[in-house]
Amino acid sequence: MAKLPQSPFMNSPFGGSSSSAPAPNASKTQGNKDNNMQLVQKLVLDLNNYNLRGNALLELSKIREQFQDFAPLLWNSPGTIAALLQEIISIYPVLSPPNLSPAQSNRVCNALALLQSLASHPETRMSFLNAQMPLYLYPLINTTWKSKPFEYLRLTSLGVIGALVKVGDTQVISFVLSTEIIPLCLKTMETGSELSKSVATFIVQQILMDDVGLDYVCTTAERFFAVRQMLGNMVAALAQQPSSRLLKYIIRCYLRLCDNQRACDALRGCLPDMLRDGTFSAALQEDATTGRCLQQLLLKVHGPRVAPQAGGGSNLMRGN
Ligand code: TRP
Repeated sequence: MAKLPQSPFMNSPFGGSSSSAPAPNASKTQGNKDNNMQLVQKLVLDLNNYNLRGNALLELSKIREQFQDFAPLLWNSPGTIAALLQEIISIYPVLSPPNLSPAQSNRVCNALALLQSLASHPETRMSFLNAQMPLYLYPLINTTWKSKPFEYLRLTSLGVIGALVKVGDTQVISFVLSTEIIPLCLKTMETGSELSKSVATFIVQQILMDDVGLDYVCTTAERFFAVRQMLGNMVAALAQQPSSRLLKYIIRCYLRLCDNQRACDALRGCLPDMLRDGTFSAALQEDATTGRCLQQLLLKVHGPRVAPQAGGGSNLMRGN
């Protein structure tokens, strides 16, 4: 956090290891820790007071990452989760017709940042799911207005889901699948900005990486076609507006789909030609790992005759 170079919070997450030998100024450090903890506790309690909440959301969203056990503290403090939900629900009426101001968007994004802490922390993740918290974010993701406040809101909400699926826990994947997250991601992949498209594709990638997720997508033709279609559309759009981040997630999704034999067979007829004709060779020269993923993909889908030779040089992507 560049704005806080001298921050007393740096390197002193409360709940951190207490086994290290006491430093010469240990009592001072301990004093700082206590003060910092008190400040965070005060800010968390401020969430319950509507007049103090806006400032508390802002301050907590800035310092949340510097406290290891911020998420359990937030989760276990009375009233705070209800206050965060209230913040989120309060903007539903301005989602459609679109009336979300930049200030409203910022404020709810600060609340979402705190939810992201809950989604990331191993001690609060399952409680977060069991309380069905992700569902409250779906209306925010489901918008298509292009203005900054809406885009920021979609991106931050997707970020919470992204944090949730990042660890690759089957229980988490099963949960998000049961809430129909995939159609929502597909919609964002169609209409979002490059950034929100990337987060949505990352979420789909993480779902596919799990066996339950791969089975889920490949179990009906409709699901598979919907995913394949969207990946294909995004590849075509990338030719106009390159993004190596998005390309990486797309290629990983395709490659993982190949682990399902029927999906792999189905891809044979419909993998975008652009993945073979060198369209992305410049982008892939800077990202060798993704380049190798693409080679593996082409090998799996088209077999060794058409795929580029393994271990070759920079013209590999042009093989046809
Ligand atoms: N209920 C739909 C289904 O189970 C959800 C869905 C729509 C979906 N489009 C999808 C799921 C694409 C996976 C992929 O099919």
